Amino acid sequence: MENLDFIDYLNTNKQDIMIEEKKELIDGLKYSSQKKLNPKYFYDNKGSILFEEITKSEDYYPTKKEMEILDKKDKKIKKELPPKSTIIEFGSGSNKKIKKLLSIVDSPVEYISIDISKDFLFENSKELARDFPELKITAISADFNQELNIPKIQNIKKPKIGFFPGSTIGNFSKINAKKTLLKFKKILKSENFLVIGVDLKKDKRILEKAYNDKEGITAKFNKNIFKNLNNKFGTNFNENNFEHNAFFNSKKSRIEMHLVTMINHSIKLFDKKIDFKVGETIHTESSYKYTYKSFEQLIESAGYKVQNFFSDEKSFFGIFILKVKK
Ligand code: SAH
Ligand code: AVI
Repeated sequence: MENLDFIDYLNTNKQDIMIEEKKELIDGLKYSSQKKLNPKYFYDNKGSILFEEITKSEDYYPTKKEMEILDKKDKKIKKELPPKSTIIEFGSGSNKKIKKLLSIVDSPVEYISIDISKDFLFENSKELARDFPELKITAISADFNQELNIPKIQNIKKPKIGFFPGSTIGNFSKINAKKTLLKFKKILKSENFLVIGVDLKKDKRILEKAYNDKEGITAKFNKNIFKNLNNKFGTNFNENNFEHNAFFNSKKSRIEMHLVTMINHSIKLFDKKIDFKVGETIHTESSYKYTYKSFEQLIESAGYKVQNFFSDEKSFFGIFILKVKK
């Protein structure tokens, strides 16, 4: 397709990344008192498909609420954003939100989409390129945990609109969220915009239902992390030895997803053996829930200011229009 380019940035520095990832896995599973995994490992192709299924489940409200805000506040959002922009989406997933944003923004000239889930990204980009033949599209496989020194995105002329929907920012610890926003700032540069979706703090029962959907899709998504790790690192996790658990940690204002060990066993991780005792858990994901104030504090510490804020009627979800400070 003429209007579509691919950059497989995950493939550059592959060796260095592998060394870092191995170290993080060993630290997280062997040497931490609470075993933990990086939630980025949810997203192989199957994980991305399962995430899409979650977004359609009755109990998972964030996607529906964010789409509702984009639909209802479209004219107001349009007023905040510059015409003839390049839109850079971080963690794009499926095309549904970008299609909406492309219809809101006045005459966008280029779209760059960055995601770790390579195959899913490439398939979705092809569909978008067919639907928007006039739009120049670049799909980049990359990991936000790495430096994003990608020449293609360093050299774009203003204006730029970063798009980071879905409350993916909530999956980073506060320290890593700030680091990630600083990385995005280096790409966006001063006076440009970041449209960012944030899940807001609310009744614990609503939150816990969203991460324990009745169809059991979130449980499948959580366990899918093992398949990806087995493929990528040759581990021998057996998902049947674990059960899904998700709860709201009110002190830390975050949903925590865990995989709970059901029988004593061990697995191999490179040259190491990792023991699992019944009841012991692996913490696979945190999903921080912010208030307007707590999120404003985070973005200000990373050098952004709030330009405007849009929410749904129940204040379940927020879309912040941020501007990179001078
Ligand atoms: N933006 C979409 C998808 C959210 S799911 C939506 O709002 O519905 C989170 C997305 O971020 C997935 O597509 C996943 O592949 C991507 N992602 C997660 N961790 C990542 C990382 N470390 N680097 C790059 N992309 C990542
Ligand atoms: C992508 N991310 C913001 C989702 C969330 O809600 O934290 C991932 C997810 N985990 C379980 N369900 C959905």
